[in-house]
Amino acid sequence: MATALRDWSYQYPWLYGGISQVAALTVGGEPRFRRLLLQDLPLTGARVLDLCCGGGDVTRYLAATAPQKLVGVDASPKAIARLARNVPTAAGVCAFAEALPFAEASFDVVVCNTALHEMTADQRSAILQEVARVLAPGGWFALADFHKPHQPWFWPPLALFLSLFETETAWELLAVDLPAALAQAGLQNIQQRLYAGGSLQVVRAQKT
Ligand SMILES: C[S@@+](CC[C@H](N)C(=O)[O-])C[C@H]1O[C@@H](n2cnc3c(N)ncnc32)[C@H](O)[C@@H]1O
Repeated sequence: MATALRDWSYQYPWLYGGISQVAALTVGGEPRFRRLLLQDLPLTGARVLDLCCGGGDVTRYLAATAPQKLVGVDASPKAIARLARNVPTAAGVCAFAEALPFAEASFDVVVCNTALHEMTADQRSAILQEVARVLAPGGWFALADFHKPHQPWFWPPLALFLSLFETETAWELLAVDLPAALAQAGLQNIQQRLYAGGSLQVVRAQKT
């Protein structure tokens, strides 16, 4: 179930942004939320891909880490236009994450912030295969997304957020073992960290 709020949030990014800012308070505020998945990644001098980058809310922090190359990919032309305004140093590419227009081993780091919950199981699996393909050996993938809370009092706010703004795929993601999915895509050295009572996960994995 999703409501008209979902359509409005795409039409008016400030609406989704405002709600996200409130939700981000559970992990210490929006700047920390946006950078959670970037912790400990070797970004300086790296070739970095922000997958499903939206308007660049994470890309802007990537740009500040002095990467050698920074690319944002999103399926929405409007998102790519916002990326160009918000992070002019990033190259925006309008493409589907499940069919990336890049050669094998093109990137040292790939990140994907709060986007996999929008994908069906088939899309998610294709995207993770693409991530493994475009990563160079030794490169890292990091994602942040919803997770089933282990603290019961995080269920009501998460359920309200998903009901108002998201679709079935976000509910489905709660039952998915993402570390196992990354392993299935051939990635290794998998680490999962949980935040906000378990309602948010950050997972990192390496292509060896
Ligand atoms: C919730 S937003 C997250 C945006 C950004 N990562 C952030 O942290 O603000 C999800 C983004 O994924 C994009 N998206 C959805 N399906 C996609 C696909 N198959 N390929 C590429 N981008 C996709 C949407 O256009 C949207 O910009």
